[in-house]
Amino acid sequence: MPVVFMIFMLDKNNIPQHVAIIMDGNGRWAKERGQMRVFGHNEGMNALREIVKHSDILGVKYLTVYAFSTENWKRPIEEVSGIFKLLVKYVASELDELNRNNVMVNIIGDWSIIPEDAKKSVLKALETTKNNTGLVFNIAINYGGRAEIIRACNELIKEGKDSISEADFESKLYTNGCPDPDVIIRTGGEYRLSNFLTWQSAYSELVIVDCYWPEFNPSQYEAALEIYQSRNRRFGGL
Ligand code: IPE
Ligand code: IPE
Ligand code: MG
Repeated sequence: MPVVFMIFMLDKNNIPQHVAIIMDGNGRWAKERGQMRVFGHNEGMNALREIVKHSDILGVKYLTVYAFSTENWKRPIEEVSGIFKLLVKYVASELDELNRNNVMVNIIGDWSIIPEDAKKSVLKALETTKNNTGLVFNIAINYGGRAEIIRACNELIKEGKDSISEADFESKLYTNGCPDPDVIIRTGGEYRLSNFLTWQSAYSELVIVDCYWPEFNPSQYEAALEIYQSRNRRFGGL
């Protein structure tokens, strides 16, 4: 019997408009190499650079990445401060190129309480790219889906509303103006959302990838999108 290989090709006419990514597995990747966890976060940053570029090349319009959750503060202080130092480094090394590529950076999450130098970098990235019209690049920092929902409710209460629509509610989310993610990719092999885009993920396709985030490259990205394209999205219909 001949062995038949199925070769899927990415359909360039069916690229998801909004891709969201849970960039997980940095720590395990480092541990397997006998390195500190922060080393994994540093390598993860390099992976992110390539994935942002490739999103643009593929024609993705919105890319949302989970960089730091409201629960990640539970980690040792050295790791948390290491992650925010890397954010400063990322902005310093990437902002020019992001800007040249017309990428608009947007932060989702409560970044008001992050370390001062990281806050300055965030402000600079937002200010520099605010008029760009290309890829919308949402970085989730101190983001939690539940915190986002409660924040939206409080905003509506402040406005004195006693009854609201889904549209009213969505207008108070950090992702206001972005379509819901078509696909959420999670690296690192875990089958959970970990408080990511709790409201917005209602009809997102979930693609779990076994490789750790630092290993995730454009060809694995395309393979994940091929899995997305093979799905039949019914939205409750037939
Ligand atoms: C994801 O990688 C990055 C952040 C949560 C900041 P992890 O640090 O969670 O890596 P693992 O899951 O422990 O391998
Ligand atoms: C999710 O990964 C958060 C980010 C990738 C920033 P975690 O590693 O924090 O998630 P859990 O703890 O495995 O659920
Ligand atoms: Mg993890």
